[in-house]
Amino acid sequence: MSAEPHTESIPILTIDGPSGSGKGTISRAVAQRLGWHYLDSGALYRAIGVAAGWADADLSDHSALMRLAFGTRIEFQTHGEGEPRVIVDGIDATDELRTETAGAAASAIAAIPEVRAALFEKQRAFLQPPGLVADGRDMGTVIFPEARYKVFLTASAVERAERRYKQLKDKGLEVRMADLLREIQARDARDAQRAVAPLKPAPDAITMDTTAVPIDAVVNRVLALLPVQSSL
Ligand code: DC
Repeated sequence: MSAEPHTESIPILTIDGPSGSGKGTISRAVAQRLGWHYLDSGALYRAIGVAAGWADADLSDHSALMRLAFGTRIEFQTHGEGEPRVIVDGIDATDELRTETAGAAASAIAAIPEVRAALFEKQRAFLQPPGLVADGRDMGTVIFPEARYKVFLTASAVERAERRYKQLKDKGLEVRMADLLREIQARDARDAQRAVAPLKPAPDAITMDTTAVPIDAVVNRVLALLPVQSSL
């Protein structure tokens, strides 16, 4: 995909927030309703985490990880409303990307400035007409600060752990709530405290708490922020 020039007029909606805040589901639904492109930036960090595992790379070797971030081919294949398949260097890694191991590797890798810099252009390249919904942690603050529409989603840590518990249970995996809650709290702390692009709302973002709010209601609240389609 080629980004810029002439991208100034393309509308951007950024949806940032911690894991389990409903970002992915809500961003995908909103992108679908608008007919806009969708960037799952977390999947890029997860893909580098998975590629690092395949290459047996040391997570403390920043230059090796930077090379992986530049060199790994990451493609998204969309099929209808479902989660897009993620192809990493030609291999369908969608299921591996969703594991706790990949999430933990992504969170560690995401704290490395060289990796974030390497992924900058890859993310900007998603800015294509007719519009973009960008989902992540720093979409409204660092990658698309010029976005016209910015949302920051939150939910209590307990609710987020419960959502994750249900997802894993549905996949037939045995997990303990207490472990999930502890992992979520540790990941939140790491994502919020890192020196580079920490998880925080952009000053011009609208914060929405999704605790106990059904997905459809959040989708409608987000869509209500945008002017009617014809005037976008
Ligand atoms: O949204 P997710 O759970 O798929 O993200 C995985 C990790 O990647 C998360 O711990 C933080 C990191 N990440 C990031 O630092 N910046 C982004 N824009 C997206 C994800």
